[in-house]
Amino acid sequence: MYFETKQNFMSYPFKINSLEAYNKAREQSVKDPEGFWAEIASSFLWKKRWDTVLNWNFKEPKIEWFKGGKLNITENCIDRHLGTLSNKPAIIWEPNDPDENHRVLTYRDLYNKVIQFSNVLKNNGVKKGDRVCLYMGMVPELAIATLACARIGAVHSVIFGGFSAQSIADRLQDAQAEYIVTCDGAYRGNKEISLKAVIDDALVQCRFVKKVIVLTHTRTPISMIKGRDVWWEDEIKKVETMGNPDCPAEEMDAEDPLFILYTSGSTGKPKGVVHTVGGYMVYTTYSFVNVFQYTPGDIHFCTADIGWITGHSYIVYGPLGAGATTLIFEGIPTWPDAGRFWDVVDKHKVNILYTAPTAIRSLMGFGLEPLVGKDLSSLKVLGSVGEPINEEAWHWFDEHIGKKRCPIVDTWWQTETGGILISNMAGITPSKPSYATLPLPGVQPVLVDENGMVIEGNNVSGNLCIKFPWPGMLRTTYGDHDRCRTNYFATYENLYFTGDGCYRDATGNYRITGRVDDVLNVSGHRIGTAEVENAINMHAGVVESAVVGYPHDIKGQGIYAYVIYDNTHDDDNLTRLDINQTVSRIIGAIAKPDKIQFVKGLPKTRSGKIMRRILRKIAEGELENLGDTSTLLDPSVVEEIKQGRV
Ligand code: PRX
Repeated sequence: MYFETKQNFMSYPFKINSLEAYNKAREQSVKDPEGFWAEIASSFLWKKRWDTVLNWNFKEPKIEWFKGGKLNITENCIDRHLGTLSNKPAIIWEPNDPDENHRVLTYRDLYNKVIQFSNVLKNNGVKKGDRVCLYMGMVPELAIATLACARIGAVHSVIFGGFSAQSIADRLQDAQAEYIVTCDGAYRGNKEISLKAVIDDALVQCRFVKKVIVLTHTRTPISMIKGRDVWWEDEIKKVETMGNPDCPAEEMDAEDPLFILYTSGSTGKPKGVVHTVGGYMVYTTYSFVNVFQYTPGDIHFCTADIGWITGHSYIVYGPLGAGATTLIFEGIPTWPDAGRFWDVVDKHKVNILYTAPTAIRSLMGFGLEPLVGKDLSSLKVLGSVGEPINEEAWHWFDEHIGKKRCPIVDTWWQTETGGILISNMAGITPSKPSYATLPLPGVQPVLVDENGMVIEGNNVSGNLCIKFPWPGMLRTTYGDHDRCRTNYFATYENLYFTGDGCYRDATGNYRITGRVDDVLNVSGHRIGTAEVENAINMHAGVVESAVVGYPHDIKGQGIYAYVIYDNTHDDDNLTRLDINQTVSRIIGAIAKPDKIQFVKGLPKTRSGKIMRRILRKIAEGELENLGDTSTLLDPSVVEEIKQGRV
């Protein structure tokens, strides 16, 4: 234990303690959203109070929360806790290798390190508004660099360590990011990933990058380019010789951008979702405290990577905003064995475990042996995120991890929503297996049919939209506001469209049924089918391809690719490997197809549109009832595809 007693060093005036309080908050948030959020925002630290709580229209869209309010999110996540939590762990870091020592950073340590690195960034020329790309493994320095950017008003763009050089180059170009912070390498299980080498490859195309700051971690040999590349440690030393200077927090408007995070859509290249300082801060902290029912002193372990939104919101900003202790785990659940999560829980006496259905399903496959001898009694709350959780996984989690005494929160949200929108609140509102259940106060979901008509009542299915802004929502897509409009606000008038299908049961609980657009969810990672097709099509010899998802026992969805290949290849399996390699190069290993079927033609309508519905059914193994195929240009291709199914 890190504390003798759990003193009440911080109270959350907005914490919902009962079902009654939840109902009341929800009612109030609909009746008077501005009053509701203004009150919550008032418990944060502002340098100047806002002029208006909310300006909005979904037409442009224009969304402004707390406009005119001045603040710095790091003062809320760090400085304001120093009085009471100075010696309390802010970050516990558990390394990949269980034999290596873990690290604990108190709030004071975190403060010192963020100040130091903020000065490093400044010394290297980074200014307010500049975009800084962070491509690092799961080390505490990633959180430190993230917060240092926020401290000086630079806009961070964290890129998940699994993306390829090409993906990084695309993102650097889109954001015109002139600064990069990376590591020599990262560990993931028994693998070592040369992050700096990937950056070097990306930078061949990005001559505009001025500085690369490299943290020593794996000490793999890397190239250091004179004038461009500097070592993290050397730069820290330079700051230290300046005599431990302070770094006053840059004054930011609530609506200044905090970060860009790239995510896949149904068309084209990934888009840079932009979140702003004030609303994001209020929403992540509010949702963190309420959904997980955080109690001061609790150890919160979110197993996501900081490279995804879950890590941004519920490893870094939400927990630190609440003065919580957040655990950063560098490794993977199955190394050195499938008991690693349980070792981490046992070792650090974790109270809240927030993970993904894909991890649960993969661990279920190892049976109960990895749980033997692991003390999980510290656990109080379990959480799930990223994809629908099937009932079997839900019950396994409940029975074997939570021992039927920990509420499970099934949290539905998206990169674009900034924080959790639909979820039960642990122990406060009821859970229902495979249901995200009810909206958080301040969130107004609606279901619509394909014509955009709102579907009222219960026991109904439709496309999930949100009809009123909440502070954590995206403001734009970087460099292309119209893309934000067409993607999210143009499908249905005056509604934010999530891209998800949803069912509302007899008592008003929401169950997310999955994407209704051409976006796949593979192991909780969002991947656009068009993106994978573009990558496959870059492989020499590929004429055309079509990618669909199919149910996968562990990943939730697998990637099934139908590929028309010119006839000159002789070894299908080798060609499959080559295609996979191409996809790894263009996007990253996470987007590699699980199955590749070579076909002579694709089912197309006379106007040339691929009928994915048919391909999806075949990939799912549903070979009968393919629906109407009479509109196809050449219905005979369907038979051939059915025969050749892999
Ligand atoms: O389809 C939904 C699914 O993940 C999508 C968002 O992906 P991303 O932006 O990468 O963010 C993932 C982490 C927040 C959603 O459109 N999704 C997320 N959470 C759930 C979910 N589907 C069902 N249940 C959930 N709890």
